[in-house]
Amino acid sequence: MTETNGPRPAPSTQENGAPAVSDRNSLSLGSNGPLLLHDVRLVETLAHFNRERVPERNPHAKGSGAFGVFETTEDVSRYTKAAVFQPGVKTEMLARFSTVAGEQGSPDTWRDVRGFSLKFYTSEGNLDIVGNNTPVFFLRDPMKFPHFIRSQKRLPASGLRDANMQWDFWTLNPESAHQVTYLMGDRGLPLSWRHMNGYGSHTYMWINAEGEKFWVKYHFKTDQGVVNMPGDEAERLAGVDADYHRRDLFDAIERGEHPSWTLHVQVMPYADAKDYRFNPFDLTKVWPHADYPLIKVGRMTLNRNPENFFAQIEQAAFAPSNQVPGTGFSPDKMLLGRVFAYADAQRARIGTNYIQLPVNKPKVAGANSYTFDGNMAFEHSGSAPVYAPNSYGRGYSDETGPVEESWEADGEMVRSAYTLHAADDDFSQAGALVREVFDDAARERLVQTVAGALAGGVVEPVLSRAFQYWKNVDQSVGERIESAYQAIVTK
Ligand code: HEM
Repeated sequence: MTETNGPRPAPSTQENGAPAVSDRNSLSLGSNGPLLLHDVRLVETLAHFNRERVPERNPHAKGSGAFGVFETTEDVSRYTKAAVFQPGVKTEMLARFSTVAGEQGSPDTWRDVRGFSLKFYTSEGNLDIVGNNTPVFFLRDPMKFPHFIRSQKRLPASGLRDANMQWDFWTLNPESAHQVTYLMGDRGLPLSWRHMNGYGSHTYMWINAEGEKFWVKYHFKTDQGVVNMPGDEAERLAGVDADYHRRDLFDAIERGEHPSWTLHVQVMPYADAKDYRFNPFDLTKVWPHADYPLIKVGRMTLNRNPENFFAQIEQAAFAPSNQVPGTGFSPDKMLLGRVFAYADAQRARIGTNYIQLPVNKPKVAGANSYTFDGNMAFEHSGSAPVYAPNSYGRGYSDETGPVEESWEADGEMVRSAYTLHAADDDFSQAGALVREVFDDAARERLVQTVAGALAGGVVEPVLSRAFQYWKNVDQSVGERIESAYQAIVTK
């Protein structure tokens, strides 16, 4: 906000557009008398204020974002026909970064996974990639997600966050080990949102102009370099500047330092999925780059701050269900659960017609979704038919037969874990991360971070399970965590 020194700006108006008489004095009977209910200005001011918040997002409540552009710099048309990914195409976009467990006012520098949400306003409709700063996730079945989030939030009685509850959930769900290793490692504390990578995490489908299908994973590599924050600095900042990451992004863009990320994809030929050594749709696994190398696609640059946080960031609605021709889903059960969850959350959080808000509205002309009315309906199609098919000129869709973005499935209806592939288990990729990616110093920081977290209130039987969990990841790291824990609690 900049101060204005010129002539006094025009006075405010009432909600009905008529001039408002005062924003500073309520109407009273005499200067010291009681207030009067027919003071429309006061009543409207208080009543609207009572309604000026919307519920915060359940997970990922604290975040912020910016607008930008994505440019496809390479030719990946042999893998996808999506207009956004054709060579030379530039697409307007919005990004939002967030923490997962904290509420709206929580510190940006609490250890957490960071959300990495992208909305591309493509010429074929909105494409959203709603991922994290890690390539994997804690779970592989969406049924567990609400339980997971509750275990990371607050105890029912005291309303306090609780290490015992967090580790109870993780150790009872050992598929979490890979993501917990990322979280307790250096990437749990990025220096800023500008200094972290983003991953679509799930496997998605790409389809080319010939109808050929591929499995893809999105990797947005920060051009600022991955830089993380020491734990003591993160704790200090949590105390002195809860909005450290939000401020960093906004100020950088204001200064003209526009952060950018280079998009790469890993592409797996459709037929490889069946016998690949890891289940390629298991969200707790990565595809080693030696098997599927990174292929460069283009670059996204964030160059414009929101003009209004509430309208453009709080009301932004990202959803993995937003796909476009040439992109699609995969048999990843987590992804399929998310396809339902987001738009439904947004109808509840923002309102039935959240899609009509400028930040969410597709920029493609001729949207005709056959959804009508509801609270705050603003866009409408006049007297055009509201049913399909119709004899009065409103188009409708009627594809039949095989679906382009399909995959084969067979079997009985069951409630079951995925069928294991040759190299599938819960711990070996987490162990590889600790042994092959972390260096000695990073391993030591992991040991100290986990020991410190366990000493923050984890009790039996969860504690012993936690030591075993880490020994399953890596025997020696697990033993070191146990000794570091003993050293802390006997101090
Ligand atoms: C089945 C599992 C999941 C469910 C049911 C779920 C559900 C949700 C819901 C309801 C929201 C709030 C949406 C809103 O109010 O606008 C949300 C936000 C978010 N989720 Fe998930 N989620 C799941 C898994 C994941 C995974 C695996 C990732 C990352 C790979 C992820 C990343 C995010 C992000 C980044 C946001 C914030 C979106 C924004 O910036 O507005 N979620 N999730």
